[in-house]
Amino acid sequence: MKSSFVIVGCGKVGTAMGRNLINAGYRLIGLSCNTQESAQKAANILSTDNFTKASWEITKGVDIVFITTPDGVISNACNEIAQKNGFDNNTVIFHCSGALPSTILFSAKACGASIGSMHPLQSFAVGCSDATFKNVIVTIEGEKDAVNAAKQITEDLGSTCLTIKTEAKTLYHASAVVASNYLVTLQDFALKLIKKAGISGDDAFKVLSPLIKGTLSNIKNVGTIKALTGPIARGDIETITKHLDEIGEKTPNLLLLYKILAQYTVDIALAGGTIFDSKANELKKVISL
Ligand SMILES: NC(=O)c1ccc[n+]([C@@H]2O[C@H](COP(=O)([O-])OP(=O)(O)OC[C@H]3O[C@@H](n4cnc5c(N)ncnc54)[C@H](OP(=O)(O)O)[C@@H]3O)[C@@H](O)[C@H]2O)c1
Repeated sequence: MKSSFVIVGCGKVGTAMGRNLINAGYRLIGLSCNTQESAQKAANILSTDNFTKASWEITKGVDIVFITTPDGVISNACNEIAQKNGFDNNTVIFHCSGALPSTILFSAKACGASIGSMHPLQSFAVGCSDATFKNVIVTIEGEKDAVNAAKQITEDLGSTCLTIKTEAKTLYHASAVVASNYLVTLQDFALKLIKKAGISGDDAFKVLSPLIKGTLSNIKNVGTIKALTGPIARGDIETITKHLDEIGEKTPNLLLLYKILAQYTVDIALAGGTIFDSKANELKKVISL
């Protein structure tokens, strides 16, 4: 029989995790949220009658507790349950934060529980409770029993498990933020420029989309250094100067961001050998901050 589990903080990740675990045969015992309304909503999605605001009422005797509250309250939520003696000796407690170490769950150790973190390297947006964990990278760290349980869970979910050192989590998470959140930022930047060029709001993303997909495919096939094309890779100072002039005139608040990205891009072009030091220095002068 598969393990029993409880979700403490059943929002975007908690609901998706709950659904995927249920589909994999795990037994949902109950869930909790900060408010009764949210708990009721999540309970409807996961088809359980056992929901509450008082997490410690549902955690006792459960094999696995997922604390999927916002990062800032994970430690307190765990502490509150531990103080009310809500964890058992063999319970495994996980949080799903990418930035925080499993050690923030230390209060559960007084009850003899094992602590770990399981971070799905995926973006879960509002209304995506049906998101699958299949083929998602789940990064894990923590105590031995917790890590072993996490390996089994990821296998059962069809996810790919990546183990990481506890002390490496902050940089690991910074990388995830750049890869996902700042990709959104970059696309927003590109969309603002193309709209200024007269392409309508509805068409703007459609126009850029094949370029974005092609570039991602190139990165996958040949890596970032060789995937770089465009004016900086060619050492085309004239074109970069025109960009700077036009952006400075039409969208001056975006000029600094363009320059910072261009500076970083010059180093990629140098590493790729498509430009040499003298051209790189000329470019860096033109795009100086
Ligand atoms: N979203 C993502 O893309 C993503 C990806 C990977 C990892 N994560 C991690 O997953 C965790 C959850 O993030 P999320 O995006 O799912 O957050 P979320 O959608 O805001 O959900 C948080 C849930 O926690 C509940 N909650 C807040 N305080 C609580 C408490 N003291 N006790 C019990 N429940 C409480 C909230 O209830 P109310 O609704 O009643 O306030 C809500 O149901 C975080 O650690 C985050 O870093 C998120």
